[in-house]
Order: sequence, then C-alpha cells, then structure tokens
Amino acid sequence: MKDEPHINSKLPDVGTTIFTVMSQMAHDHQAINLSQGYPDYDGPRALLERLQFYAGNGHNQYAPLAGIPALREQIVRKVERHYGALVDANEEVTVTPGATEAIFCAVHAVVHPGDEVIMFDPVYDCYDPAVRLAGGVPVHLVLPAPGFGIDWAAVRQALTPRTRAIIVNTPHNPTGSVLSAEDIAALTEIAERHDLFVISDEVYEHLVFDRRRHESVLRHERLRRRSFAIFSFGKTYHVTGWKTGYCIAPPALTRELRRVHQFVAFVAFTPVQYALADFMAACPEHLDELPAFYERKRDRFNAALAGSRFRFSPSAGTFFQLVDYGAISDAEDLEVVRWLTQEIGVAAIPMSVFYKSPPGDRYVRFCFCKEDATLDRAAAILGGL
Ligand SMILES: Cc1ncc(COP(=O)(O)O)c(C=O)c1O
Repeated sequence: MKDEPHINSKLPDVGTTIFTVMSQMAHDHQAINLSQGYPDYDGPRALLERLQFYAGNGHNQYAPLAGIPALREQIVRKVERHYGALVDANEEVTVTPGATEAIFCAVHAVVHPGDEVIMFDPVYDCYDPAVRLAGGVPVHLVLPAPGFGIDWAAVRQALTPRTRAIIVNTPHNPTGSVLSAEDIAALTEIAERHDLFVISDEVYEHLVFDRRRHESVLRHERLRRRSFAIFSFGKTYHVTGWKTGYCIAPPALTRELRRVHQFVAFVAFTPVQYALADFMAACPEHLDELPAFYERKRDRFNAALAGSRFRFSPSAGTFFQLVDYGAISDAEDLEVVRWLTQEIGVAAIPMSVFYKSPPGDRYVRFCFCKEDATLDRAAAILGGL
C-alpha cells in the first residue's frame, strides 16, 4: 500500500510562473523591479475611497452572477463611447474576477476535447493551460520578429477541420505590437470562412500610443458576432490586485460563458464592483488620459535607453518595452535576466518563456508602469550598458 496517492498531473510541464520568480529575485537582490507588470503607484484616490466606503457600508455579500447592474451599465456606456458598440448590459456583459477567469471560462465554453485553438507565440501564459485543461490542442504559431505582427498566410495553413477558436491579444504582451484594421479584416475573413470563435484579450485596450487606434473586436460588427472580448479593470485603473475584469460577447456566447463562470468563480468581488461603477460614472476622462500618461513613461524610459547598446522600436501599446540585448551579450535570455537582476540591479522578463519552442532571439521585456523616479533610476543604470 502506498502512503500517498499517485498524481497524474494534468499540467506536468507547468512550474512557478516567471513573473513570480523574477519578482522574488528582484526582492532578494534589491533590484529595481521592471519585470512583473504592475504599477508601483496606486489607483486613483477617489476610486480607493469608494472601495473603503462600500466595504464599510454593507456591500460585502455575493453580487449577481453577471455583475452588479450599475457596473454593467457603465461598461455599456464606455464601449459605446470608445468603440461605437451597442451592447446589452443583461445579455452581453459579464463581470469576472480578472481577465484571466474570463479567458478560462471563454475557452471552456467553446473548446471540446480534440478541438484545436490557434494562439501566437510569444504568448501570454494562461491561454495554453486553459485550452489543455479543456481537452483541446493548442496550436502555437510564431509572430515573426522584429515587428511581431500576425502572419495570416501561416494562420491559413494551420487551419484544420478541428480548428475551433483563435486567441488574439492586442495590444500585445510582451511585444507591444498592436493589430491593425487590415489584421481585423483578415481575422474576420478567416473566422467566418472556417466558423471559428475568437477570444480577444484586450486588457491593454487604453494603452495604445502615437495616436494609433485600438482595434477592438467590438468596433467590427461581423467579428463581434463570434467573439469574446475580454478586458481588465486592473490594468486600466492601476489596481492589478483587485483582479476584476469583464467579458463582452453576443447573448448565445455569453450564456455559455456564464454556464462555466458560475462553477469556476460564480461572481466577482462585490465592493470593488460598486466602487468601479461610481468611479467610471464620475471620472470617464481617466480613460482618455491613459494613453498620454503611459506614452510619457515609455518615452522617458526609452530616452535613457537610447544611449545604451540595447536596440528597440518604441512599444506601440501596453506598458512593456521589448529590447534586443544582442549587442551586449550572447548569453541566453534566462541567464541575461539573472545577470541584470543580480549584478546590474534591474529585473526584467526573458522573452523565451512566452514560447513553446523559443527561437533563440535575444530579447528581454522591461515594464514601464512605474513611478518616474523608479524609471529614472533604472534607466540611469541600463543607459550605461
Ligand atoms: C495579456 C494579458 N491578459 C490577461 C492578463 C490578466 O489580467 P487580470 O489580472 O485582469 O486577470 C494579463 C495580466 O498581466 C495580461 O498581460
């Protein structure tokens, strides 16, 4: 008889995420942490006060499954104002505990065992495990460097009768690339022709720079009909620890998503929902100010890097800057981030972890959602490399 049960892991290759590893290493070596994507500043004071108010005044029990009506109403107004999309608060909007849960539920809503799901490397880490846990088969295509746009010819080649869905992420973590109107046209054509679902991760929707337009699937009526569009309040209001997001999808897709959601999390955190609803109503301009806020941070950081041997194109979106360190070191990126963190004093994320089969490029990702003083200290160190 054995003392312990045999575990046949469903995700045997999954270890501690690199984000946790690098943040811990930054902490242990007192390095400036430009690795994990969270701000070192707080969300707007008025928003934090609303949370205190609601938590202190009896709004601490389960919210409705789809989210509180006031927040769904604010979401509806917001997507109409930003994307010209008219969505139904009751049938098409679901508030979730973070974008991650929405992605998991969207995948589980539509992916059956054996179904193939196309995703693009470098890829955000939660997509592949969600597909595998649903019994699906992740199909990893590569975004070619240095532009990291989608190669639509490669997508067409990868399609099979088992292809069920395609997961896109714009603006894109970790490369900062954004989809164009032409990309959306190609995606629409392919998705319609092959009857695919689209899971569109748009958590960085407001972090789009140089006067580009965020091509939300919600802007495109035909694409919207087959899409789960997924967003995160954490990124938008500088409160990543609140883990609150939402999914917008047509009624039939929303029904399926909620079937899963009700048994994964059931609801999102109640007082945060009230606080967000109030703040969105009182301060819609917060969203309009975000692109310039982050563009200034990007430019501040990049200006200092310009004197270094790092090579880069300014990030088009997100709060990440990808840099090529090939002129500084021949080492693999995992070794380089260890060196940067432990000896140079600035933590970064290696790009190879975002690939199923790393191509051996020489990129690391820095995060610039940091106080100017933090960015200046990091840039002063990195600028000399
Ligand atoms: C591309 C992408 N999608 C989803 C998420 C997760 O968002 P949330 O914290 O709301 O679950 C992140 C967070 O870093 C992300 O970068």
